[in-house]
Amino acid sequence: MSEPKVLGIESSCDETGVGIVCGTELLANAVASSVEEHVRFGGVVPEVASRAHLQAMVPMLEKAQADAGIGIEEVDAIAVTSGPGLTGALLVGIASAKALALAYDKPLYGVNHLVGHVAVDQLEHGRLPTPCVALLVSGGHTSLLLVNDIATDVRLLGETMDDAAGEAYDKVARLIGLPYPGGPHIDKAAADGDPKAIAFPRGLTAPKDRERYRFDFSFSGLKSAVARWVEAREGSPDGLPVADICASFQESVCDVLTAKTIDACLANGVEHLVIGGGVAANGRLRALAEERASAAGIEVRVPRPALCTDNGAMIAALGAEVVRRGLRPSALDIAADSSMPV
Ligand code: KG4
Ligand code: ZN
Repeated sequence: MSEPKVLGIESSCDETGVGIVCGTELLANAVASSVEEHVRFGGVVPEVASRAHLQAMVPMLEKAQADAGIGIEEVDAIAVTSGPGLTGALLVGIASAKALALAYDKPLYGVNHLVGHVAVDQLEHGRLPTPCVALLVSGGHTSLLLVNDIATDVRLLGETMDDAAGEAYDKVARLIGLPYPGGPHIDKAAADGDPKAIAFPRGLTAPKDRERYRFDFSFSGLKSAVARWVEAREGSPDGLPVADICASFQESVCDVLTAKTIDACLANGVEHLVIGGGVAANGRLRALAEERASAAGIEVRVPRPALCTDNGAMIAALGAEVVRRGLRPSALDIAADSSMPV
């Protein structure tokens, strides 16, 4: 079979994405974000996200077809995120995908959002060398995956026990008065700070955690440590050393993320690493990952930021791999699975 053309729909959080791919070739990636509508709440409000998906879905479907220069009748299959994510938000994408599959008589594939974050790299760097390890870091997830086959064999090595890495960025930003989403603001402010200024804790790296939580993460203790540090200096005439707080917080996050990720590669004899999710845009994370991976003889792939954040092309890219393997389509009654495992 020649490379399959697949339309992918993503609506698990606050991005409404419709992408079209032909195998590993990106044809269109239309994304609408409701992030602005959540700013005043300091985080994603599920009901607001669902309504925004309803409004954006048809325009994004139209834009993707116009950008790709092909209509839905020309694709081989429709793929949709069936989890994990916000149930109400997922349902908008799933209902849309079912309607299209039925109306155009196309096979429908429900796929995993986390695996999509890995598959998307193929659109930029070509087919994934396997096995590989993937680090997914966003506002909703922080997971380490072992990918033996992108369509059929992805295993969870570890994940966050509490806050996601991006969530920690967002919460710390709020504590020190930076706007939501906080990641890019902390990234920028940290450039002028000293990463060694404040010794913030490194979650789940104590000797007692090394066995049981070797590939797991925890960021809520770090967030609390920043909160206590800030509280202790409230009313100080010098104000808060925002740049130093950002640099020191960021160093803790990136140190733990990269150390555990390289450890996971070495423990599994893997020479290729993919980093995805919104936090993959972080300058320090990219630099430290490159530095540590190159010292360990590991190749690092990080897709460009537009492909790292939630989008429909990642779902189409994974759908194309599923179709290529000749796997059976999902039934038309697929449901949203908010905590879908990989
Ligand atoms: O993947 P994404 O767009 O949405 C999901 O959460 O699924 O990721 C958004 C997260 C937010 O928490 C945001 O603060 C974080 O990614 N982020 C960053 C950077 N850019 C976005 N975190 C650290 N440094 C950045 N440059
Ligand atoms: Zn995501």
